[in-house]
Amino acid sequence: MDQLKEEINQQLLKLLSSVKEGKVKEAMTYSLLAPGKRLRPLLFIYVLKAYQMDYHAYLDIACAIEMIHTYSLIHDDLPGMDNDDLRRGRPTCHKQFDEATAILAGDALLNLSVNTILNMSIDNDLKVAIMTRLYEASGVNGMIYGQQQDLAFENQNASLQQLQDIHHHKTGELIAVSMQLAALIAKKDDYQYWTQIGFDLGLAFQIQDDILDVVGEEEKLGKKVGSDLDNHKSTYVTLLGIEESQKKVEELFQNCYENVYSMRINHGLILQILTVILKRVN
Ligand code: IPE
Ligand code: IPE
Ligand code: MG
Ligand code: MG
Ligand code: MG
Repeated sequence: MDQLKEEINQQLLKLLSSVKEGKVKEAMTYSLLAPGKRLRPLLFIYVLKAYQMDYHAYLDIACAIEMIHTYSLIHDDLPGMDNDDLRRGRPTCHKQFDEATAILAGDALLNLSVNTILNMSIDNDLKVAIMTRLYEASGVNGMIYGQQQDLAFENQNASLQQLQDIHHHKTGELIAVSMQLAALIAKKDDYQYWTQIGFDLGLAFQIQDDILDVVGEEEKLGKKVGSDLDNHKSTYVTLLGIEESQKKVEELFQNCYENVYSMRINHGLILQILTVILKRVN
């Protein structure tokens, strides 16, 4: 897994080489190559590998997903959103540079993700299908809608249903799409299974994030503990408490395992990455 992460990082660096020198490029590089978990690109690649596919021809899709994710984090940390100072163990983009540069670096990463996929030499119909789903997932009916609702429910208690909807969109969409895109490439018939796994995993992942925001260690997390409390966010912890939230995480992972075993794939590979996520402390 570490070697794969290194390969992703090398390719991200290569893709940045087309960007004109300047403050925005510096900020893009600073945030994109900061030590994140690379979870979404890894999920995309692991699903391809579970079908014994060679992922190298599709590495730029993995990188595009990571660019979108990093842009979302840069903007999520801005004073107008979560107002955080620490990300991936370093000062947030707007702290290291300034707000204008952070906004532009986020915009630029989103744009670069589009050109990265457009420049790939893959079948055009496949490319259109991939881009359609990817930008739907990250767009205003997907991740952006989730971020809107997350902010709307600061200082206002969300019901469990509403909170699930927030998490489904703000985090579930990008995690689900990472698996869905691999299914579009490897085996369309399994698309529904990966959709189910992706959204269950996405919800579990965000509940874990809510838990870690309370009980995590800043040093390991690389971001501030207690940010949600400071921002009066509605989270699984505020609604259900730590224990019930943890139970929900385990239940969602069980659903994932069942769906994984419904497919003819290399189960062990997917279980390996799911276990890493289940046990995460950052
Ligand atoms: C953080 O995502 C934002 C959430 C959706 C919880 P990650 O926990 O994947 O962050 P990095 O990429 O490892 O920094
Ligand atoms: C962020 O959720 C989700 C997106 C960036 C789309 P959070 O605001 O909980 O993520 P962290 O805790 O800042 O990483
Ligand atoms: Mg947020
Ligand atoms: Mg945040
Ligand atoms: Mg959080």
